[in-house]
Amino acid sequence: MCGIIGYYGSRDPKQVIYDGLKKLEYRGYDSAGIAILDNGKLKRVRSAGKLIHLKEKLDNEKFTGNIGIGHTRWATHGVPNESNAHPHAVGKISLVHNGIIENYQEIKEYLLKEGAKITSDTDSELVAHLISREIEKGSTLKEALSTVIPKLEGAYSIAALSENEPDTLVAVKNGPPLVLGLGKDECFVASDAQAIITYTNKVIFIDDHEIVVAKKDKYQIYDMKGSAISKKITELDMSPDAIEKQGYPHFMKKEIYEQPRVVAAAMSPHIDVANLKISLQVVSSDSNGEALKQDELYSQLKHFERVFIVACGTSFYAGLTGEYILEAMAGIPVEVEFASEFRYRKPVIPKNSLVIVISQSGETADTLASLRMAKEKGAKTLSICNAKNSSIDREAFFKMYMKADAEIGVASTKALTATLALLNLLGVYLGRVNETLTRDEEKSYLRSLQALPSEIEKVLAYDSFFDEAALTLKDYKGFLYMGRGVNYPMAMEGALKLKELAYMHAEGYAAGEMKHGPIALIDDRMAVVVVAPTDDVYEKTVSNLEEVRARGGQIIAIGTGHNERLKSLAKHYLSLPKTSWNLNPVLSVIPLQLMAYHVADRLGFDVDQPRNLAKSVTVE
Ligand code: G6P
Repeated sequence: MCGIIGYYGSRDPKQVIYDGLKKLEYRGYDSAGIAILDNGKLKRVRSAGKLIHLKEKLDNEKFTGNIGIGHTRWATHGVPNESNAHPHAVGKISLVHNGIIENYQEIKEYLLKEGAKITSDTDSELVAHLISREIEKGSTLKEALSTVIPKLEGAYSIAALSENEPDTLVAVKNGPPLVLGLGKDECFVASDAQAIITYTNKVIFIDDHEIVVAKKDKYQIYDMKGSAISKKITELDMSPDAIEKQGYPHFMKKEIYEQPRVVAAAMSPHIDVANLKISLQVVSSDSNGEALKQDELYSQLKHFERVFIVACGTSFYAGLTGEYILEAMAGIPVEVEFASEFRYRKPVIPKNSLVIVISQSGETADTLASLRMAKEKGAKTLSICNAKNSSIDREAFFKMYMKADAEIGVASTKALTATLALLNLLGVYLGRVNETLTRDEEKSYLRSLQALPSEIEKVLAYDSFFDEAALTLKDYKGFLYMGRGVNYPMAMEGALKLKELAYMHAEGYAAGEMKHGPIALIDDRMAVVVVAPTDDVYEKTVSNLEEVRARGGQIIAIGTGHNERLKSLAKHYLSLPKTSWNLNPVLSVIPLQLMAYHVADRLGFDVDQPRNLAKSVTVE
């Protein structure tokens, strides 16, 4: 939440920072701003609302400097107006901040007593005041930050500039991500490497409690005691193309369409095609970035007796689906929990537990904190991330990758289906390790997985159907999504998608629970979306549908193949290709994504940047 960027070099800083902010806008779009040292004086341009409003102002501004900072905001303290927009400037310094200062009230009272003139409602401006006071006493920016940081409670990444040091960019990390980019005679700091990848692929991932002091052609990183530390430079293998819309009207549409390729890419390292055998590729903290050899992996994964899956948002629903899959395939007890709950209760994590954390961004604050807690409690951890080198990826013991390329649409799509594919592969692997699957069953699951990309392709054909249907769907007063068994989590995911994109009331329910409350909501203005592929609970789900129909609910049914019964019950029937029970969620979520996309689009909402949301939730 919030994206920060800083640049020092011979390119036009306005352009570099604006370009970077465009790539960071997924982190928040309540306001944006930049500050540049222009002839030694700080010049700021800020604007409420999305980046486009800042651009209108920037187009009329000329800067002559070569060092600057920028920010795109997801509001925490204070409404999204211009005075709350970053960069904040006090005296000779200006800063951008991502995070939350928890003791801001205390700091504010202190500053007010001291006579400080506070011009915004943000916690960030208070930090600028504290730093400015140190500068006035004669400190350098780095010294000032070192003095101020111990006074701050909470999470923050900060980048700052001072008129006294026009050749220095200073940044600090304690929580939200921060990367230092190194070009030829230029340097960058940013919340995410995507923001600078057009300019350099050489980066250093900054860890918590580290301060960066960057000049044009040199840099130094310090720990909080002020000692210089040396860190590894990573060369990123990231293509700038992945962060373009490539002709699609929205990133979300592009990402929905990428799913056949992405699911194939996520699976491909893990299947020994020649022998039709699972060959799970898992990197461990001890394996120098290389996947563990199969015999090592086998001995390391064999002793787990219990699995916890912890995640947020869409990744949580992937985890819930994983519970059905891992328990059925590998006979291992699985518990799934929201990271925001897990981290604050006192979970009993028995010995021989594997804690799996799922996160597209690898930076979700609650998921990261849960990972750390699980490690403290002595559990082995496994991350499933999309962002390689993210905090979660770096800190987990075992690591698997979604390989979905950059996901920019705030509502997650391709990261979910890639994760579902990986959880299936993990299920098959643990099934083999635990001897709960026969060799024939392993082969049969792998065959269905291999066919999955082309089946997803077929389901994408519902795009045009929903483009039309959205014209009427948008007028329903609400939506209930139902599913049973392994398809129940996708009912919740479908509802989440509609809520986040179309701002409509939608609930996902286990079909069998309808009679215990939600059925009271049903009338002819309520749409009921049911995921009912032909599986062992299909008949039960159809009985629930009859009950909905009897009360006038308007049904959109998703089933397998040609199905007269569902067709006769539903207003709209969507047919999925026949697949193995465990892969129905992957196929059924595609129409749910398309439906939310088109309803939101028909209502005129910004599908890539829904209101109040951010893609990477780096504060609690
Ligand atoms: C935010 C995003 C969701 C995402 C969730 C978890 O809420 O808007 O799309 O599913 O965070 O993110 P993660 O990066 O941890 O998967």
